[in-house]
Amino acid sequence: MRSKGITLTRHILMEQRAHPSATGELSTLLAQVGLVTKIIARAVSRAGLADILGVTGAVNVHGEEVKRLDEYANQTFINVFGHSGLVCTLVSEEMEKPKHLSENCSQGKYILFFDPLDGSSNIDVNGTIGTIFSIHHRMDGDRHETDAEWFRPGSEQVAAGYVIYGPSTILVYTAGNGAHGFTLDPTIGEFLLSHENIRIPGRGKTYSINEGNYPVWHPSTRDFIDHLKEKDPASGRPYSSRYVGALVADFHRTLLQGGIFLYPGDMKNPKGKLRLLYEAAPLAFVVEQAGGAAGSGTERILDIRPTDLHQRVPLLIGSSEDVALAESFATGRKKRDYERRKKT
Ligand code: AHG
Ligand code: MN
Ligand code: MN
Repeated sequence: MRSKGITLTRHILMEQRAHPSATGELSTLLAQVGLVTKIIARAVSRAGLADILGVTGAVNVHGEEVKRLDEYANQTFINVFGHSGLVCTLVSEEMEKPKHLSENCSQGKYILFFDPLDGSSNIDVNGTIGTIFSIHHRMDGDRHETDAEWFRPGSEQVAAGYVIYGPSTILVYTAGNGAHGFTLDPTIGEFLLSHENIRIPGRGKTYSINEGNYPVWHPSTRDFIDHLKEKDPASGRPYSSRYVGALVADFHRTLLQGGIFLYPGDMKNPKGKLRLLYEAAPLAFVVEQAGGAAGSGTERILDIRPTDLHQRVPLLIGSSEDVALAESFATGRKKRDYERRKKT
């Protein structure tokens, strides 16, 4: 896929022209996200040299030890957006409460939700990691510092996306008009269009789940994964297993090649592990814009109205046919079909 030399900024401006009402602030905000992730990409590429590996000794709101790169990435968002005038409130996986940038709240129209560094367990072993972001309009009036402001369904996102720090650094975003990928050209420090209007295949050949959780999986999850492993060439089975352990990496492969990523609820963690506001909802926006699907097993991710800032949600995301099949197992429909067919 050759770049057309179109920079992220130019693409966003082209997108913005499609929305006469756009004021350019969203374009500037997205370009600022590009700046943040370029700074993070530089730190990631030199982590071992810049003495930025390892842990801070702190534990975050999720009870997870905070890596120094988590902290560095989080602080980079605060530094870049602190005086941008664009964003009134930052909601981060690494901050228990929303951070109001009060000097921005007089004119800043947006709230930025983000997972500053996703896949932290991969940092110290030079594995692929990422950043995930989600942008909402602030509600009008003086409700901007109330829960109502933050607990918005993903369907209200204005834009969302992620950056994957792998062999190359790629930024994928959607503003509701398709999903588009940009590869960072480090020689000029620009993200250049490399994946225009990404379309996920209707069905894939891989499934991505942490098989180590098998002992606590619900029977419906076991049935679904066992189904994918059965030998049946006519239905394209068995699927291959792929699991990087970083949501952004497993999602990016699924988005480009098809298949399904699952972090389901299980008997130990009924809501699974991934967070709705800054992991599941932004990726659900991207995958739906690419023609795929994202659900919790019982409902569409983008329809879920959060009740807690850091709430977790089970996540089945990827090709529409694969997600539909997984949901039919999750709701027991498939099992009943199975049993009915066995009786005939
Ligand atoms: P984070 O590093 O932001 O906390 O996210 C880690 C998440 C996600 O990236 C990945 O899909 C999942 O944790 C992996 O969890 P397991 O190690 O339990 O498989
Ligand atoms: Mn994460
Ligand atoms: Mn994280």
